[in-house]
Amino acid sequence: VDALIVVAHPEPRSFNAALADAAADTLRECGWRVQRSDLYAMCFDPVLGRGDFAAPQNPELLNVSLEQRHAVANGTLAADVAAELDKLLRADLLVLQFPLWWFGMPAVLKGWIDRVFVSGVTYSRRAMYERGKLRGKRAVVGVTTGAPAAAFGRGALHGDIADLLAPLHRGVLGFTGMAVLPPYVAHHVPYAGAAERAAMLDGWRRHLRGLDALTPLPMPRLEDHPELADDAFHRGAA
Ligand SMILES: Cc1cc2nc3c(=O)[nH]c(=O)nc-3n(C[C@H](O)[C@H](O)[C@H](O)COP(=O)(O)O)c2cc1C
Repeated sequence: VDALIVVAHPEPRSFNAALADAAADTLRECGWRVQRSDLYAMCFDPVLGRGDFAAPQNPELLNVSLEQRHAVANGTLAADVAAELDKLLRADLLVLQFPLWWFGMPAVLKGWIDRVFVSGVTYSRRAMYERGKLRGKRAVVGVTTGAPAAAFGRGALHGDIADLLAPLHRGVLGFTGMAVLPPYVAHHVPYAGAAERAAMLDGWRRHLRGLDALTPLPMPRLEDHPELADDAFHRGAA
């Protein structure tokens, strides 16, 4: 019953901000407790680096995954990351709201993922996909585009939006075990008039009210790749 809405847009009066507001209101109406991380408003630092680790295990040679595990175990993870990780772990539903920038998410959101989805807590070598540590949670993406709907699809000018979202859907959300619900895409936003915007806001509200009826996107299963789940494989590779 806890939802976390993460929004990545620099303008509080943007359509993306309006979509995030609509999501918060709708989810609250549906009985969710809603937390919000407005990454620009928070001035969230998206750059993963040494600064994430106040008391590194090895100050000489940075190994990010190992330091993430060490920092979590010792409570020395940077405070801004720890706070976001807490919100993520408390959430049963993660909503990511962003404009499509260069076929992907804005850098601040990529950086939020880089820093917050820490090794050992959200995934491990043996805990990915159906065994991922965030299993039991659901995730849904709300994305806006400048291009019209007709520009997306198999064989269309920009290709299938599912392919553009795959690094996020499969590589982050599915990888860590979350059930990834179908995204909501608002197209042609800079060119939409008031009526079209109202209709797109409404579509997002309906999408969220109907969450329980949505079938999660198909994801790979680690158990279908037993050779990769085998410790001997990783020892051999090391
Ligand atoms: C840096 C940047 C990159 C963009 N890249 C894309 C893109 O790859 N595909 C697309 O359809 N629109 C692209 N756009 C347009 C935005 O997606 C569009 O302006 C936004 O979704 C509108 O929502 P907003 O009014 O809340 O900003 C881009 C815009 C910017 C500023």
